[in-house]
Amino acid sequence: MYKILENRYIGEDMYFMKVKGSFKAKMGQFYMLRAWDTYPLLSRPISVHDVDEEGISFLYKVVGEGTKILKNLKPDDTIKLEGPYGNGYEKVEGKVALVGGGIGVAPLYLVAKNIKNCDAYLGFRNEAILEEEFKEVCNEVNIALGDTFVTDILDVEKYDYILTCGPTPMMEKLVKMTEGTNTKIMVSLENHMACGVGACLVCTCKTKFGNKKTCKDGPVFWGEDVIF
Ligand code: FES
Repeated sequence: MYKILENRYIGEDMYFMKVKGSFKAKMGQFYMLRAWDTYPLLSRPISVHDVDEEGISFLYKVVGEGTKILKNLKPDDTIKLEGPYGNGYEKVEGKVALVGGGIGVAPLYLVAKNIKNCDAYLGFRNEAILEEEFKEVCNEVNIALGDTFVTDILDVEKYDYILTCGPTPMMEKLVKMTEGTNTKIMVSLENHMACGVGACLVCTCKTKFGNKKTCKDGPVFWGEDVIF
């Protein structure tokens, strides 16, 4: 069990939680979070937002019973973390754009810290959040709000690599935009998960190489391999 350091609302229906401890997560991996005994049955898979010398942080949305419990945790309360799980983003070199939509911006912060000199494109419904934090670790931060989508403000051909996480239609469109260009894209799929460790098949996704488990083979895949 680990101690909560911070747990607060940051806007756009999202909460920020920081947990004290020493963690070795790689960019794009996730942990299974649990702060209850028997109900709800399943732990919640949440991607790693940041890791530093103090601990690990996550962003989450309240979508059901488990995340409702997470929302009410206070500093010094305890939480169980299992992980890190999954295959995250590969460390790439060249001109890199990080493209996040909504809660999908969560894993991209740790990516920005690891791959220096990226540009960020972040899309939100009503208000820009985490803009200052991303500015500290990116060359430039471009924000798309409301009816303007990140796909409207991004020229994919300016980049060697695009690393993205967000709503499936956004990622699918980005993959299409890179078709016929020299730009490579990695997508972090947000398929529903249950066990998080490759045992239940709830998270199966389709790829050119057959069905894969999002939790174990991904959640990050090369965009050209995914069948949306
Ligand atoms: Fe159970 Fe992926 S969540 S196999």
